[in-house]
Amino acid sequence: MDCTHLIGKQSKDGQEASQQDCKQFILSLPKENGWGSSQYLYLFQCFWCPSNMIQPVISFQNHFQAKDNDIVVASLPKSGTTWLKALTFAIVNRNHYSFFEDHPLLRSNSHELVPFFELKVYGGGIIDQNPQFDLSKMNEPRLFGTHIPFPSLAKSIKESNCKIIYICRNPFDTFVSSWAFFNKKRLNNSLPIISLEEGFESFCKGASPFGPFWENNLCYLKESMTRPDKVLFLKYEELKEDPIFHVTRLATFLGYPFTQEEESKKVVENIINLCCFETMKELEVNKSGSFGKNTNKFFFRNAKVGDWKNYLSPSMEEKLSKIVDEKLSGPMSHLENHTTNIIK
Ligand code: A3P
Repeated sequence: MDCTHLIGKQSKDGQEASQQDCKQFILSLPKENGWGSSQYLYLFQCFWCPSNMIQPVISFQNHFQAKDNDIVVASLPKSGTTWLKALTFAIVNRNHYSFFEDHPLLRSNSHELVPFFELKVYGGGIIDQNPQFDLSKMNEPRLFGTHIPFPSLAKSIKESNCKIIYICRNPFDTFVSSWAFFNKKRLNNSLPIISLEEGFESFCKGASPFGPFWENNLCYLKESMTRPDKVLFLKYEELKEDPIFHVTRLATFLGYPFTQEEESKKVVENIINLCCFETMKELEVNKSGSFGKNTNKFFFRNAKVGDWKNYLSPSMEEKLSKIVDEKLSGPMSHLENHTTNIIK
């Protein structure tokens, strides 16, 4: 059963395909156990979508009208989304706030400043019924986040000149970070935790939120190569290694390049320091705050590259390397130089 009948369909009273239609459709999809607080992941439009986000994704596809100056931060969960959202917000708003006092990032988690389409903007399920989010009240450039793979983004995003920045992270750290994060959410919701082995098997099958890992990465990588002005593909490890180079590159890509004067005044360094893990983790809002059903402190663990070595056995390493290697080469062999970098 496909969902084309749900996309773009409006009933007489202006609402989308009924909740009932949607429920029936969801029940027809292949499913696997959920990772966080949603019970299941469903294979929807070729990605594993948490059950509570399918209807928001459909609403987003039906309604979202992109503007040419919009910016979309895209990623798989636990790849550095919180960080990239903060950097993007700090770059485009750098002339509006002081970095040292009263900056919005000092009092709000970056997910509040850069809302997810599938969680916040369309999180009420049906846009007309979501009283919490008013797109017309957003400052421009509007900044959004998403974990949805490129082919399932709203058509207007693909067709407009808005920019997409994607961050990827090596699969081993992405898996361990996801496993730790979703288990904290489960504990918070009094759900039993998922063992490392169970989570690992699901990840290897591709059944992780918004996965398969390799599909989500590849669709954005391909797009960044065919449309380099539209999609910038960043790597968490490289951003950590050389933040000045990559933040400068990011600002230029977004159309907000740093001037020589800004560089000499150390604006790039100020942005990096404001958004770095050590600063963000210690902010009161990130120690004790929350947004929606999310606890801010869960977004900050240790931010170490290679921490997976403390969790995965040599056989797990071998298994995941083999899978990702195969999935990223094969049909994508022309991208080989780029895909090997994803794994490392
Ligand atoms: P770890 O679990 O390995 O520590 P996301 O933001 O996509 O949810 O990813 C969360 C991961 O990014 C976590 O990794 C978290 O600690 C790390 N992280 C959060 N804020 C960061 C920052 N400002 N700089 C670098 N890494 C950050």
